[in-house]
Amino acid sequence: MTTHTARETDLLLDGIRAFIEAAHVRTDPDSCLNYGRDWTRLYAPNPLAIVLPGTIEQVQQLVRYANEHRLALVPSGGRTGLSGAAVACRGEVVVSLERMNRILDFDPVDRSLTCQAGTITETLQNFAREQGLYYPVDFASRGSSQIGGNIATNAGGIKVIRYGVTRDWVTGLKVVTGRGDLLDLNRGLIKNTSGYDLRHLFISSEGTLGIIVEATLKLTRPLREPSVMVLGVPDLDSIMAIYGLLHDKLELSAFEFFSELALRHVLQKGLHRPFEEETPYYVLTEFENPDERHTEEALALFEHCMEQGWLSDGVISQSETQAKELWRLREDISESISEHQPYKNDIAVRISRVPALLTEVDALLTREYPDFEVLWYGHIGDGNVHINILKPKDLESAVFAKKCGAVSEHLFAILQRHGGSISAEHGVGLTKKPYLHYTRDETEVGYLRAIKQAFDPNGIMNPGKIFD
Ligand code: MLT
Ligand code: ZN
Repeated sequence: MTTHTARETDLLLDGIRAFIEAAHVRTDPDSCLNYGRDWTRLYAPNPLAIVLPGTIEQVQQLVRYANEHRLALVPSGGRTGLSGAAVACRGEVVVSLERMNRILDFDPVDRSLTCQAGTITETLQNFAREQGLYYPVDFASRGSSQIGGNIATNAGGIKVIRYGVTRDWVTGLKVVTGRGDLLDLNRGLIKNTSGYDLRHLFISSEGTLGIIVEATLKLTRPLREPSVMVLGVPDLDSIMAIYGLLHDKLELSAFEFFSELALRHVLQKGLHRPFEEETPYYVLTEFENPDERHTEEALALFEHCMEQGWLSDGVISQSETQAKELWRLREDISESISEHQPYKNDIAVRISRVPALLTEVDALLTREYPDFEVLWYGHIGDGNVHINILKPKDLESAVFAKKCGAVSEHLFAILQRHGGSISAEHGVGLTKKPYLHYTRDETEVGYLRAIKQAFDPNGIMNPGKIFD
């Protein structure tokens, strides 16, 4: 993208103020800092301006204007992403959807709602609950992430084992393409075989094809009396043995894990151990537990796992409040380690491959990172593991990133052998762009480029993200 003199910038922004109220075209340092970055904190924010459209028409006008003047646009949701996809570090215009945050329609017969892209995830979840229904895509950043961002990254989270990912809940999308056209995709239909389904191209596109402005989402019935168990586990193999059994016998809605090293960080933030004994790993599992029979079954399975030596201790929630407290042991990990500037890996394989992958990765990390603190946690029941390497205080960020990057090459080579993905749910953005070839071969990337070209011929939509 071209750089602009101060005078040219003023003129360009005046042009935007001709169709978007001046108060919603910002250049103050605070806004540039806040809207120019995501949760990665790896890239210095440097946007040209922040624009907050209030209507679809304004989004279209902005995209057309950007095409005319070859302005790069970075679509922006809650910026809770972890791959740099929403970062504006090269003089781009950030397009924040936060003013477009209304629920527009709800239909109890269809069990679906339509909302603007800037709607906060939790607002949507609460709205569904008030209707006696449930929006099951859930994660710790629910209070600030926006549905448009969730869709643009195909967000996963903590209930995927039962409910799938964001993609599985989107039945309609309105998008403004990189050409400025408004497309109304699938319109909430369950069945529709009338050709290519462009909706799915926008899901996981990380803002590189256009801007999602509205979404229609399915809802479902709420979970019946969910209980949470936290189990102390001696090793990674036992986790998978427990998974096999519980997945078979219980109505699981979550099967998460974390290591003792990860747990210690949340304990430092004031949470309490689930039980006295320390174990190398912990499983957190949630299951429907509507009556005595289900409770007895769960306890019998617990006993069986004990006898097999797969676990050494455990606790089961006795109330909703206790379930929430137990969930915090897992959900708060990410925030509790953010001050250590973790190098994040977010890898996935088919579940059947998890044990073999973990054995190899464990050996690699022990060999390559003897001096670094390595934390494991994640959605192991989905085949998705987060491996976080914490930066030692006295090590320079650039040196740390280089060392971790070198190990990533080995890690991703292992992953490639197991047919896995370098990004399960955080996206590619900037952080994983150098490693995309481990997951997608050149031929496939060629098709991705052709799709990008069709939707965004001038390359104004989030340039430099996913691929160059
Ligand atoms: C999580 O599972 O906690 C989130 O994906 C965030 C993270 O990986 O740090
Ligand atoms: Zn996660």
